[in-house]
Amino acid sequence: MMKPPLSAIILAAGLGTRMHSQRAKVLHELGGEPMLAHTLRAVVATQPHPLIIVVGHQAPEVEAAARQTLPHYEIHAAHQHRQLGTGDAARAGLQMLPANFSGDLLIGYGDMPMLNPTTLQDFIEYHRSSTNVLSFISVKMADGGSYGRVFRDAHGAVEAIVEARDATPQQLSIAEINTGIYLADADFMRSALAEIQSNNAQNEYYLTDIVAIARRLRVRVNAWTAPNTAEFAGVNSREELTQMEAQLREQVNRRLMQAGVTLLDPATVYIGPEVEIGGDTTIGPNVQIMGRSRIGSGVLIEGTAWLREVTIGDRSHLKLGVRAEQCFIGEECEVGPFANLREGTRLEGHNRIGNFVETKKASIGRGAKASHLSYLGDTIIGSETNIGCGVITVNYDGYDKHVTRIGDRCMVGCDTQLVAPVTVGDDVYVASGTTILRDVPDGTLVMSNHPQREKPGWTETWHQRHANHPKARNKTNNGGE
Ligand code: UD1
Ligand code: CA
Repeated sequence: MMKPPLSAIILAAGLGTRMHSQRAKVLHELGGEPMLAHTLRAVVATQPHPLIIVVGHQAPEVEAAARQTLPHYEIHAAHQHRQLGTGDAARAGLQMLPANFSGDLLIGYGDMPMLNPTTLQDFIEYHRSSTNVLSFISVKMADGGSYGRVFRDAHGAVEAIVEARDATPQQLSIAEINTGIYLADADFMRSALAEIQSNNAQNEYYLTDIVAIARRLRVRVNAWTAPNTAEFAGVNSREELTQMEAQLREQVNRRLMQAGVTLLDPATVYIGPEVEIGGDTTIGPNVQIMGRSRIGSGVLIEGTAWLREVTIGDRSHLKLGVRAEQCFIGEECEVGPFANLREGTRLEGHNRIGNFVETKKASIGRGAKASHLSYLGDTIIGSETNIGCGVITVNYDGYDKHVTRIGDRCMVGCDTQLVAPVTVGDDVYVASGTTILRDVPDGTLVMSNHPQREKPGWTETWHQRHANHPKARNKTNNGGE
């Protein structure tokens, strides 16, 4: 049987009052990413078209977060101008659904970051193999807290979802709760959403009312009870966010350890759910790895590192204190201690980047080294070149950034400044302390330092000229130092 088309609306317009924040709830981060990113990834695995996201509070930021999560997926943003409730938000989303769309419509909330794509798939299959017009996901919970309760009639048929604030004490004791994921024929959704009223405890339009409306319209509605309750925890407070962060972290760490990654202190390691790490890699304490980072096998990350959107090749070694963002680090590199690899850094492999080296938009050829105290920005450096201590690419003239090119097998002496734009050829030797202003041809020795002169006895005359200075030598009161 052919599957009907599937579309989805994700509600993310609310502020999340219980977070006590200026920031929209779905933008609060979990595993180094906005909460919304997690939910969206689970939803997109079901390939809905169109995928509509309802935005309101901080609409531009929420929309941007969605697009950043799914850069290659077509997302339609619908605006809910006033947050009048989930039912109203779903109506706003429906405005973006083409009037001639016919097929299934999935509606869910943006604050369900633990949701598993396979669970959603199972739910869709349940709905399609049932005769339900409307299905939703419920879970069993001893204490349903602020969740909506699934109210069933004497025959066990679903009658309504009752919000906790509108529930009688007897209804509050119901152990089956609403997770907030609904699936129905789009035509049914259109007519049911149009009927929602706001006469309830919160004077809001409740999306949950579509269940009672289905009953009134005498169409079949039923709940599918998901096996894993934890997946549907909606984050409503900072405390819940922290608990979920711990849960997520545990899940990720467990998966990585099962795949052969050593975590010396899992409690202080924060690895995002999208990160991939090869076997026999060891990660020390206080390490954060976020975004779509790829870490190879046999890598050693000693500890205290902050890594976002990085690729690290096999057998590379990050010593204590590395910060790297949007970088490619090839195989068998040695980085740190205390190195700052900024966006656009590319180490081809077998490189050494030592302490207090900062790189930015720096492409560094295989085997090249910068071992101490350098700034390498907007630069292309050849293979096997050695960058001495304190070398600086002078890339900025106050208006524009310029590129420094250094060839293969060069020895760039300590304390050299390269004033960009400038090109140094292959096999060049740069004497220490040189300021390079012009291009240097292949195989050249270049130096710009002053010839050394000596003035014998100069030091003594220098001190004599300062005999009356408060810090003069041989004074009993020499400034208290
Ligand atoms: C909702 C359900 C409840 C369910 C619970 C599961 C309703 C009325 N209640 O309650 O039955 O047990 O989720 O987690 O639906 N939103 C908008 N616009 C609005 C209001 C909300 O876009 O005007 C969005 C929020 O950004 C959020 C989602 O809808 O992502 C859910 O809203 P929230 O206020 O968290 O609903 P709950 O009170 O948790
Ligand atoms: Ca919620």
